[in-house]
Amino acid sequence: MRSRKVLAVAGVITTWTFITYYFLLRQNPEFSFNRLTLSKKIDLLERGAKEQYEASDKLFQNLVGILRSKLDAESEIGQNAPIVAPQLEDSAGNSPIGIVGVKEIPLESSAEKGPSTVAVRTADGKPIIPVLVFACNRVSISNCLDNLIHFRPNVEQFPIIVSQDCGDEMTKKVILSYQDQLTLIEQPDQSDIYVPPKEKKFKGYYKIARHYGWALNTTFQKGYDYVIIVEDDLNVSPDFYEYFFGTYMLLKNDPSLWCISAWNDNGKVGLIDTEKPDLLYRTDFFPGLGWMLTKELWSELSVKWPKSFWDDWIRHPEQRKNRVCIRPEISRTRTFGKVGVSNGLFFDKYLKHIKLSEDFVEFTKMNLTYLQKDNYDKTFIKNVYNCPMVTYEELRRNLISLDGPVRIQYSTKEQYKRTTKLLGLMDDFKSGVPRTAYHGIVSFYYNKRRVYLAPNLNWKGYDLSWS
Ligand code: UD1
Ligand code: MN
Repeated sequence: MRSRKVLAVAGVITTWTFITYYFLLRQNPEFSFNRLTLSKKIDLLERGAKEQYEASDKLFQNLVGILRSKLDAESEIGQNAPIVAPQLEDSAGNSPIGIVGVKEIPLESSAEKGPSTVAVRTADGKPIIPVLVFACNRVSISNCLDNLIHFRPNVEQFPIIVSQDCGDEMTKKVILSYQDQLTLIEQPDQSDIYVPPKEKKFKGYYKIARHYGWALNTTFQKGYDYVIIVEDDLNVSPDFYEYFFGTYMLLKNDPSLWCISAWNDNGKVGLIDTEKPDLLYRTDFFPGLGWMLTKELWSELSVKWPKSFWDDWIRHPEQRKNRVCIRPEISRTRTFGKVGVSNGLFFDKYLKHIKLSEDFVEFTKMNLTYLQKDNYDKTFIKNVYNCPMVTYEELRRNLISLDGPVRIQYSTKEQYKRTTKLLGLMDDFKSGVPRTAYHGIVSFYYNKRRVYLAPNLNWKGYDLSWS
């Protein structure tokens, strides 16, 4: 009896062991995989790879989403810029990330390049003006690109070329996610740059200058007559393209002009006339920050392009040769790049307060000949010196009985600095030129009135020692 019981228990245990062993084996991937036919194995491998791709793609998209919202919050985006939704999905809901659908321009080593390789005029004869966007490692470049694409009136006329330095993969993926809405080119020279020990902390400026040189060479070699330069931390206004298209003829025909800029260095709310979004100026100060140049200017500058601080270099009399830029009363760009190569202090103090224009001014339908040197110098300068002269105190306390524009005079650097500080204007000079100045005159708006901060009438030109 006892031995039968033992036998029965032993039988149950043995059966259980066999069953467990069988199931365990079946679940062992190697066991089951080895038993499959070759085509089944390939199927399985394919499915596995696909699942893995989808999972990492999803993970990447989530990461991009998180980074974007974090950067948006940090850079105070959304105050007044009309940003469109991030375009991570096409209409069918497919994610384009990871799919290389962007035409890449072959990376040439700048120099020797034959004649035009692209059309430089549209089918109906308009100049094709590429927008060259400088990128490095900001994934928030999507704020800039969304804007540029959203307001672009004509894809053929305004191709967007993003030039990336730094080789940052995350940023590259964001750029590639725009597929055929833009072209990506990549700065091939990522070698370490020699920087004198004293300037180590300025290495970023060396890299930027090298990138500018390469990207402008590459773009102009295509044969374009004009290029608009945008940096990856800029938002643009609704009439950004209209502004440049409306002014390119001035740039072409007036040899005293060398750039069209979208930026007003003193464009803070409270210093601009919000009723005058159509108002433009000539300025001796090179503003940059969304600007257009011609291929002739590039061939002149490219041969002596500097190793660093390109924007201060370009402002030097040796480069500027008394040429001037057009700039608007209300900026057509705004920067959200607090964290960047320069420090955030300047950003907090000035840059973040610059108002981005929200209007659409039909510049292409306007007569802009008042901006040509001969016309402008006759009228603008005369008007300024015909204005009644007032003091800062009179202006601030609204003690001026007359309506209309007024003039505040300065004759020394100290006087200029003191007055600009009181008025909230930028107080610095580059190569002796105050920001936004034309013939030393700085135009702004104050207490609902046009004001000109102007040197005395016998002004002799800029003084390089004013800094
Ligand atoms: C400041 C100027 C900028 C000018 C630069 C160079 C302002 C608000 N900005 O840069 O117009 O071009 O000085 O003197 O006055 N970049 C690279 N490679 C790098 C690092 C940056 O190509 O290694 C690109 C960025 O993507 C960006 C541009 O250079 O498009 C400027 O960089 P940013 O970090 O924004 O520096 P800022 O201090 O604004
Ligand atoms: Mn910047």
